[in-house]
Amino acid sequence: MTRETWKTRAGFILAAVGSAVGLGNVWRFPWMTAQNGGSAFLLLYLAIVLLVGVPGLLGAFVIGRRSKRNPVGALRSLSDGSRWWAAFGMFAVVTTLLLVSFYSVVGGWFVRYTAASVTGSYFGHAGAYFSAINYGPAALAFAFVFLAATAAIVYAGVEKGIERATKVMMPAIVVLLAALAAWTFTRDGAGAGLDFYLTPDVAYLRAHFFDILPAAVGQALFTLSLGTGTMITYASYLGDERSLAADAATIAVLNTAIGVLAGLLVFPLLFSFGLDVGSGGAGAVFVSVASAFASLGTVGRLLGVVFFAVVLLAALSSSISMLEIPVAYLVDEHGVSRAKATAGVACLVAIGAAACALSSSVFGLLANTLVNLLMTAGLCGFLLFVGWVLGSRALDEYRAGAGDVARAVDGPWLLFVGVLIPVFLLFTLFTSVASALG
Ligand code: PFF
Ligand code: NA
Repeated sequence: MTRETWKTRAGFILAAVGSAVGLGNVWRFPWMTAQNGGSAFLLLYLAIVLLVGVPGLLGAFVIGRRSKRNPVGALRSLSDGSRWWAAFGMFAVVTTLLLVSFYSVVGGWFVRYTAASVTGSYFGHAGAYFSAINYGPAALAFAFVFLAATAAIVYAGVEKGIERATKVMMPAIVVLLAALAAWTFTRDGAGAGLDFYLTPDVAYLRAHFFDILPAAVGQALFTLSLGTGTMITYASYLGDERSLAADAATIAVLNTAIGVLAGLLVFPLLFSFGLDVGSGGAGAVFVSVASAFASLGTVGRLLGVVFFAVVLLAALSSSISMLEIPVAYLVDEHGVSRAKATAGVACLVAIGAAACALSSSVFGLLANTLVNLLMTAGLCGFLLFVGWVLGSRALDEYRAGAGDVARAVDGPWLLFVGVLIPVFLLFTLFTSVASALG
C-alpha cells in the first residue's frame, strides 16, 4: 500500500494550520484568559507557546516524518517494537477521542449560532440565550450535526477537502476578527477591556502563578494541537524534505496571532456591554459577540452568519485532524477499511459527545481540567521519546531540510525537548495535581 503524501508543498502547512486554528483560538482562549486573570494569563501563555510550543511542534514533526506512521505505529516502529511506547501512543489516541467529544458540543453551539443569526433569535437577550441552549437534548442534536460533518470529511480522505477549505478560511477569519475588533475599539468602555487583557498584571501573576500555570500550558498545547499525535500524523504524510523548523514557526505565529486577535475582540466587547468577564465562562465568546451583532440590527444578522460560519469551518479543519488519529490508527495498524474505521470511531465519539452535551459538569471536566492534564502528559511523553529513544536520529531528521538558523540551534533544541521541557511539564502536572488535592 503506498501512502498518500501532500499534493503541494503548501498542503502540509495548510493542513497543520487548519488543525491548529480552531475553537481553541476563538472559544477556549478567551474563556481561559477570562478565568485566569486576563493579561497575567496572556503573558504566561505567550511565553509557553514560544519556549514549549515551537520546540514541541518540531518534536512532533520529527517523529512523524521519521516514522511515516500514525502515533502508535510511529512509537512502536521507532522503538524497535516496544510495547510500552505503543501503549503510550494508544494513550494519545484515546486522548483525541475525548477531545473530539467535547469539541463536537462546542462545534454544535457554533452551528446553532449560525442558524440563530439568520433569524436573530438571540437578539435582545444575548446573555440569557447561551445559558438556554448550551446543554440538553437540542445541544446534543447540534453536536451530532457537527460530528457527522467531521466524520464525512474524514471518510472522504486526507488531502482533498482540507487544503482547499483552509486556504479560503484563514484569510477570512483574520479579516473578520480584525475588522470586528477595530469596530469594537470605538465603543465606550472598550478601553477597560483592553486594559484587562493587555496591561501586564505582574502582581496577579505572582499571586496566582501556580493556579494559572496548568491552564496556560494546557491552552498553549491544545491550541497548537500538541500532545495528541495530530501533528505527528500530519507530518507523517510529508513526502519530501523541508524545513520543519520554519514550518513550526509559521504555524505557531499564525495560530497565536489568531488567538490574540480573538481576545482583542472579546474583552473590549465584554466590558463595553457591561458583561461580567468571569460569569461568561465557556460562553465568553458567544455572549460578547452575540451582543455586538444584536446591537447592529440587520447588518448584525449578516455579520453573525458570516462570523459563526467561518469559525465553524475553522473548527471542522481541527476536528477532522482529531478524528483522523484513531481512524488512521485502525486503518494502518489493524487493516480496517476507512469506511468502517470512520463509522466505528464516530459512534464512540457520539457517546462522549452525548455525555458532554447533556451534563455541564462532564463538559467542564473534559474541556477544562482534563484537556490541561492530558495535553501536558501527552507532550511530555512524546518529547521524552524524541530525546531518549530517537536521540541522534531526531537530530538527523531535524537537520534535514533545515536552514542555517535552525541548524545552529540543533543541539540546544534536543536539550530542550529531551530534558528541559519534560521537566517543566512534569512540574506543571505535579502542581496541578497537588492543587487539585487541596
Ligand atoms: N488546535 C485546535 C484548536 O485550537 O481548536 C484543537 C485541537 C486539534 C487540539 C487537534 C488537539 C488536536 F489534536
Ligand atoms: Na488553535
